[in-house]
Amino acid sequence: MRYLTAGESHGKQLTTIIEGIPSLMPLTKENINESLLRRQKGHGRGKRMQIEKDLVDIAGGVRHGYTLGSPIAMVVHNDDFKHWVDVMGEDPIPEDQDIRRVVTRPRPGHADLNGAIKYGHRDMRNILERSSARETAARVAAGAVAKTLLAHLGINIVGYVREIAGIISEEYPDMNMEDRVRISEESPVRSLDPVASQKMMDAIDIAKKEGDSIGGVCEVYIEGIPAGVGSYVHYDRKLDGRIAGAVSSINAFKGVEFGIGFEAARKNGSEVHDEIAWDKETGYYRKTNRLGGFEGGMTTGMPIVVKGVMKPIPTLYKPLQSVDIETKEPFNASIERSDSCAVPAAAVVMEHVVAFEVAKALLEQFPHDQFPKLKEAVDQYREEIKRF
Ligand SMILES: Cc1cc2nc3c(=O)[nH]c(=O)nc-3n(C[C@H](O)[C@H](O)[C@H](O)COP(=O)(O)O)c2cc1C
Repeated sequence: MRYLTAGESHGKQLTTIIEGIPSLMPLTKENINESLLRRQKGHGRGKRMQIEKDLVDIAGGVRHGYTLGSPIAMVVHNDDFKHWVDVMGEDPIPEDQDIRRVVTRPRPGHADLNGAIKYGHRDMRNILERSSARETAARVAAGAVAKTLLAHLGINIVGYVREIAGIISEEYPDMNMEDRVRISEESPVRSLDPVASQKMMDAIDIAKKEGDSIGGVCEVYIEGIPAGVGSYVHYDRKLDGRIAGAVSSINAFKGVEFGIGFEAARKNGSEVHDEIAWDKETGYYRKTNRLGGFEGGMTTGMPIVVKGVMKPIPTLYKPLQSVDIETKEPFNASIERSDSCAVPAAAVVMEHVVAFEVAKALLEQFPHDQFPKLKEAVDQYREEIKRF
C-alpha cells in the first residue's frame, strides 16, 4: 500500500493516488470529506480556511460505494484557482508578458531557499507552492481511506492537542475512545481538557495580536490494534520507526514520542517498562502503557499513544530577517497572510498520517486482495492470540 500526491497550493487541484487498498471495502466520499473538513477547523486559522471548503472528488477505484482493488484517485479542487490562472497556469506565458508574483525573498523556516538552490529556481514560488502545508489536505485524503479500512476492522484512531505554547492539557489515560473523539471535536483547539482549551485559545489570540506564532504537541491514540503488528527484524519493518518517520515528515513537525517518550530518559527501568499480565477473556495485556503500545517494533495490543511536536508557524507578522536572492540585500520577511497557530489542524493531519502507516502494516501482515478475507484473517488472528 502506498500513495503519491501532486498539486500546488494555488494550483488547479490536489491529487492523491492510493494503491493497495483491498477490493470490496465499503468507501464513500463522505468518509473522506469528514476528515478534510476537520483539518480546516481550529481556533487561530486564517481566512483561506474560511474561503475554501475542501471536498473530494473520487476519480477512480471506487464503484457503487465499494473499492475495486484498483488505485483510488482523489481530487480536491481549488476554487480560488480562477484568480491564479495567470500565476499558476500550465501554459507558456506569451512573450510580451512577465511572470506575475515572482518570489525572490526566501522566508526563514520554510523550504524556499533550500528548494531554490536544489532545483535551480530563481522564482521561489516554484518551491513554496508545493512545500506549503496545503499538501497535507492530500495526505489527509489518503489517511481517510486508511482510517475507513481500520474502522471496518474495529480499529479506531483519533488525534487531539496535548499542548499549545506551554499550556499542557490533563492526560486522561482512562478516557474511552468515544469521549476522546467527541470532546476533542467540540473543542475549538481540539483539546480534551476544557480548562486548558480556554487558556490555549487565549494564548493563540495573544500571539495573533502580537504578530507572532505558537506551536505545540499533538497526540494520536489508536485502540483495537492486536498485538504483534509490525516487526522486530529490520529497521524499515519496525512499525514504531515507520510511524515516527511519517509524523516527522509532516510540515513543521520536529519530534516524535511514544507513550512517556523523552520522560523515559529521566526514570528508572522499573518506572518505565510495562508489566505483562494475562486474563482468560482478553489474553495478554500490560498493567500500564508507558511505552505507548510498542515493544520491539511491534504492537503490544495496548492502545498506541504517539505524540508529535509542531514548531510555531514560521510566517510571522513580526518580520524575521532574510536576504533577497537577486540583490543579496537583507530585508525583513514580509507577510501576505498567515495563521498564528495550526496545531489543532496538525492534530488531524497527524491522525491521518499515522492511520496510513498502521493500515499499511496490517495489509503487509494479512491477506490483502479482498477486504472480506482480510477481515476474516484479522478476526481469526485476534482469537488465536487470546489462546496463545
Ligand atoms: C496544518 C498545517 C498548517 C500550516 N500553516 C502554515 C501557515 O499558515 N503559514 C506558515 O508559514 N506555515 C504553516 N505551516 C508550517 C509550514 O508548512 C512549515 O513550517 C514548512 O513546511 C517547513 O517545515 P519543516 O522545516 O518542518 O519542513 C503549517 C503546517 C501545518 C502542518
